[in-house]
Amino acid sequence: MTSNRGKYSEYKEMLRDVGIELELLLMSYPEEQLDTIEEVAERSTLYLRGTLKTDFFIDDSGLFIKTLNGFPGVYSSYVFRTLGNVGILDLMKGKTERSAEFRTCIAYFDDKLNLFTGRTQGLIATDPRGTNGFGFDPVFIPDERKETYAEMTTEEKNSISHRSKATQAFLKYIKKKTI
Ligand code: IMP
Repeated sequence: MTSNRGKYSEYKEMLRDVGIELELLLMSYPEEQLDTIEEVAERSTLYLRGTLKTDFFIDDSGLFIKTLNGFPGVYSSYVFRTLGNVGILDLMKGKTERSAEFRTCIAYFDDKLNLFTGRTQGLIATDPRGTNGFGFDPVFIPDERKETYAEMTTEEKNSISHRSKATQAFLKYIKKKTI
């Protein structure tokens, strides 16, 4: 379902009590540069569908910073690899408008493609803080919180995160399907 271990441990915790067995698949697939995470997730799923013989889902996520017109957005993975958190903070130097949004799109393929999106609003920190989590967690402070995602336990992050909101919508679909 994902080859990102940070995402995997979050899903493992969120899906622990609902009887869904998770398997981490270390597969690479072309991530096309499209305009939305939903389109990226959809395209990746359709690519993997030919190879995987079981139901599966993939997670495509991104950090969208308002004052940078949504950047890095669909380029989040590339920007994290090349600029990292320090690069993001450099781009934000001197900016007082620091609002941002994290988005996750889960694309689940059973007999058809299903998309579930979750969003969490917050602010870009002025310095990286915390050592938990992964990716941009040290620079993202969700609304109504003082800590960054990286200063939270997995459980705390899961109680408010973009990924957990997408997961709730996904689980609602699964439950409806199995009734
Ligand atoms: P992708 O969904 O793997 O393409 O993720 C894009 C980039 O955003 C990667 O560099 C991830 O590390 C980062 N990312 C995705 N989800 C999160 C998150 O929940 N917290 C922090 N960074 C994330």
